Amino acid sequence: MSNTAIFYGSSTGNTESVAQQIAELLGAEAFDVADSPADKLAEFDNLIFGTSTWGIGDLQDDWESFIDEVESADLNGKTVALFGLGDSGSYADSFVEGMAKIYEVVKEKGCKIVGAVDTDGYEHESSEAVVDGKFVGLAIDEENQGDLTEERVANWVESIKGNF
Ligand SMILES: Cc1cc2nc3c(=O)[nH]c(=O)nc-3n(C[C@H](O)[C@H](O)[C@H](O)COP(=O)(O)O)c2cc1C
Repeated sequence: MSNTAIFYGSSTGNTESVAQQIAELLGAEAFDVADSPADKLAEFDNLIFGTSTWGIGDLQDDWESFIDEVESADLNGKTVALFGLGDSGSYADSFVEGMAKIYEVVKEKGCKIVGAVDTDGYEHESSEAVVDGKFVGLAIDEENQGDLTEERVANWVESIKGNF
């Protein structure tokens, strides 16, 4: 478990806050991708990537460059989990799609991806982050369902722990 790192990008602090909650529950280290921690990718067997969504379905700003580091990293044999922050009220058709942008890259990288989440209880209309009927990782909506965040994070961490 100690060999787990979280890499997050956050513009107003919401994703950072969720990253810290996950880090605490897992006893993992958390790195802000704005600090370009690319060299850290090789040091951990288990990687958790978190982003909020900006524009319409875009990655968080700092992720726009860090995604290239992930793309060129050797992730073979590693286990990867994803989480994404979004607003299902104002952005019902692009909810947490930043997470989908990371998924598109890591799914080609020879790593095992864990932590898909059932869409039940979410209020979005459509999202590229839903693949085969599930979110590709943990979806968090601080604007509309912030009261569920703590429980969602705890349940998700419990569900991925066994893979780490
Ligand atoms: C200009 C703007 C564009 C946004 N675009 C989206 C979007 O396309 N999809 C979505 O789910 N959320 C969108 N959001 C909501 C943010 O992702 C959400 O507020 C998130 O919690 C911000 O997290 P952060 O503080 O970690 O960056 C947008 C918010 C703003 C202000």
